[in-house]
Amino acid sequence: MQTVSFIHMENGTREEYEFLDRMEDKYKAGLADRILESLRRLEHSFSGYKVDRLQHSLQGATRAHRAGESDETIVAVLLHDIGDDLAPYSHSEMAAAVLRPFVSDRLYWIVKHHGLFQMYYYAHHTGGDRNARERFKNHPWYQDAIDFCHRYDQNCFDPDYPTEPLEFFEPILRRVVARPRFNDPEYEARYGEAG
Ligand SMILES: [Fe+2]
Ligand SMILES: [Fe+2]
Repeated sequence: MQTVSFIHMENGTREEYEFLDRMEDKYKAGLADRILESLRRLEHSFSGYKVDRLQHSLQGATRAHRAGESDETIVAVLLHDIGDDLAPYSHSEMAAAVLRPFVSDRLYWIVKHHGLFQMYYYAHHTGGDRNARERFKNHPWYQDAIDFCHRYDQNCFDPDYPTEPLEFFEPILRRVVARPRFNDPEYEARYGEAG
């Protein structure tokens, strides 16, 4: 079977959907490679800082690694700005969506809101509210998001920091991406995969 025969999903058979599942599994196996490509594209993201977005991401991941953080945390830091490429108006949400199957709910939440928490460092210079993060001050992960931004984001624009190359993080990324939580029934019931 090269392709299914149906042109409306409602007419597909079990065999066809099993075939499509196998095709999708093959495609998913290339996810780590596509994420690496996407990270490399960050090199050409917007400029003005002393380091490009790829170097910024690598610097954060390097700091997380040297601080003894878990693989999941290192990958969350590495990918936190991956949305800059295709979601410049909602980059935090995009990165969080990519990470969601591979990290804890806590890390997902931190990455999803990191843009808002980062505003603390600059928004007052441009007429914004640097304390916008305080809307989450009673949230159990509020301090964790502050720490994430303080240790692995706002301080990662130093061109002289001895930053590890992308290749250093490749095996860590592959390990994390090889463990999606798709078999967690609660996860599937809550978020599903359809659509
Ligand atoms: Fe960001
Ligand atoms: Fe960042």
